[in-house]
Amino acid sequence: MNGSPLLPNGSPRAVLGVLGGGQLGRMFVHAAQAMGYAVAVLEPDAGSPAGQAADHHLRAAYDDPAALDRLASMSAAVTTEFENVPAAALQRLAQRLPVSPAAEAVAVCQDRAAEKAHFQRCGVPCAPHAVIEREADLAAVPDDLLPGILKTTRMGYDGKGQVRVADRAALAAAWATLGGVACVLEQRLPLLLELSVVVARGRDGDMVSLPVQQNLHRDGILAVTEVPAPDASPDLQRQAREGALRLADGFGYVGVLCVEFFVVADGQGGQRLVANEMAPRPHNSGHHSLDACDVSQFELQVRAMAGLPLTAPRLHSPALMLNLLGDLWFGADGAPRTPPWDAVLALPGVHLHLYGKAEARRGRKMGHLTVTAADAAAARAVAARAAVALGLPPP
Ligand SMILES: Nc1ncnc2c1ncn2[C@@H]1O[C@H](COP(=O)(O)OP(=O)(O)O)[C@@H](O)[C@H]1O
Ligand SMILES: [Mg+2]
Repeated sequence: MNGSPLLPNGSPRAVLGVLGGGQLGRMFVHAAQAMGYAVAVLEPDAGSPAGQAADHHLRAAYDDPAALDRLASMSAAVTTEFENVPAAALQRLAQRLPVSPAAEAVAVCQDRAAEKAHFQRCGVPCAPHAVIEREADLAAVPDDLLPGILKTTRMGYDGKGQVRVADRAALAAAWATLGGVACVLEQRLPLLLELSVVVARGRDGDMVSLPVQQNLHRDGILAVTEVPAPDASPDLQRQAREGALRLADGFGYVGVLCVEFFVVADGQGGQRLVANEMAPRPHNSGHHSLDACDVSQFELQVRAMAGLPLTAPRLHSPALMLNLLGDLWFGADGAPRTPPWDAVLALPGVHLHLYGKAEARRGRKMGHLTVTAADAAAARAVAARAAVALGLPPP
């Protein structure tokens, strides 16, 4: 939906609506409020990170028609902070007010098979794969996809909903373990690096991006992001940025989109880029932008949904982001503890972000910290000291 921009300085304040109450929603709320908007969050959970920070918290299921209508009545525009929001909810809202990203784009990002079809349509290479919807598809899988990774097409995150399979017997067993639901089998690639690019596209088609991010995952969960990407050549970074812009443009996207890439050997002594997946929202790997860029990914989300101009973010400091999982809230003896924030905050250039989650659980994202410094080596050195203080492996 085009139209005039939704300026923030109205009185009473214009309300931006968000579906979902997690940490991405919380950081969106903070950015929107800083710019003079009020925010309404639709989220069933009482103590959610975004609900705590929002001006209005509608406590209801994401597909509750009455709650969606109430959100539409009070808001001037709506966005989402997680990709598994029911597409029908976005469609219902879109009949009454600007919704970005659109339900159709979110639906593509919700489904790994549709996502890969979009990569191919846009001419962005992805991993060799096969879609498995029924038992007969298992036998038709080409040999070269094994060893592979079987992933449910829907609802996977942080490495959940995936099984590594060595051979056909393991593949059949894994598909049964995953409940016989629609899956994609991907060839397991020897990853040299993982990169991601956060792009924002406005209603008028204007696009900007954050610097290319280099990511390290542990146990399928993002652990460390570094910018500028230290190990990716300028050419690979250019390809990643161009691929991400092409993917956003390719479905007329409005909002913030993150594209994850793998870097693999091309077999001829060089390296090539493979698109992995997209998130129709700000992304964990873009959190550094809060402290290291002059426009954060959350401000870009606000600007895009409000139809405001997008300005290209400038990285003003090299940065390392460390994710803080719930494991840190347990001591070596397994007893609950408060992590030693005093030691961490004594280090220069450390920015601590905690999401206000009531309960720490192992593997649960509780917060992150970003280290900024005058140069990349200094950021690395401080991040290494923070990791030691917290008992994390070196970044
Ligand atoms: N085809 C693959 N080959 C090798 N490693 C992979 C492959 N697919 C995923 N991985 C690893 O698993 C991680 C999580 O997979 P991903 O598809 O991004 O799922 P999630 O939705 O859980 O983030 C990736 O960041 C990467 O480290
Ligand atoms: Mg991923």
